[in-house]
Amino acid sequence: MERLQKILQRAGIASRRKAEEMIASGKVKVNGIEIRDMGVKVDPAAEIICDGVRISYEEKVYWVLNKPEGVVSTTKDEHGRKTVMDLLNVSERIFPVGRLDYNTSGIILFTNDGTFSNQLTHPRFKLEKEYHVKVAGLLRKEESVTVEKGILIDGVRTKPAIINKVRYDDKKENTYVNIVITEGKYHQVKKMFEAIGHPVLMLKRYRFGSVTTDGLKPGDARLLKPHEIKQLWNLSQHGK
Ligand code: URA
Repeated sequence: MERLQKILQRAGIASRRKAEEMIASGKVKVNGIEIRDMGVKVDPAAEIICDGVRISYEEKVYWVLNKPEGVVSTTKDEHGRKTVMDLLNVSERIFPVGRLDYNTSGIILFTNDGTFSNQLTHPRFKLEKEYHVKVAGLLRKEESVTVEKGILIDGVRTKPAIINKVRYDDKKENTYVNIVITEGKYHQVKKMFEAIGHPVLMLKRYRFGSVTTDGLKPGDARLLKPHEIKQLWNLSQHGK
């Protein structure tokens, strides 16, 4: 059972104050009965009609997808390219939690829970994202340290990062690294390596908080398990 104004607010009908006004003016019916009292608790699955429109109550769902390259991570694409929604067969109106570039692969979460999504993407909560990266050229230790300490991008210094598992392909003159960052600015990883003269050739997000792509082939998706959802909430509140 939940307060009626809270249900209206969560359904995106109106702000809490607006919802209260609608209730007070007799615009809301629950199971056919007009409710004007504030603070009445109702079952969110009840038939709630607001200004003549039925409020749809959707169960909150949480998915993880291993996005392949060559797919846009928005729900629609104006150029008609394949989107992540083409890979997910989900009846609820879910949306991606954050974005990955067209040519970036890896983990991306989906939900219809706006609060959860905001919590996970807000920079204040410092959720770790781990990327597997291939960069052009042989990355020197000092260059890694420069990236780790923070790079000026568009006038703003990036937050401390961790680079590890550095492997060199001496023949092709490429370097493979893992980088862990806690932000999610547009093209962030690409810009960080670009800034030190090592353009990114391949980028995959391996981990988002505590969830990895392990066991998921590119293009495959699965529902998050209850303990994974809880863990993500906890991590986003305490950082990591
Ligand atoms: N950083 C990037 O540059 N691209 C992504 O898709 C994600 C992080």
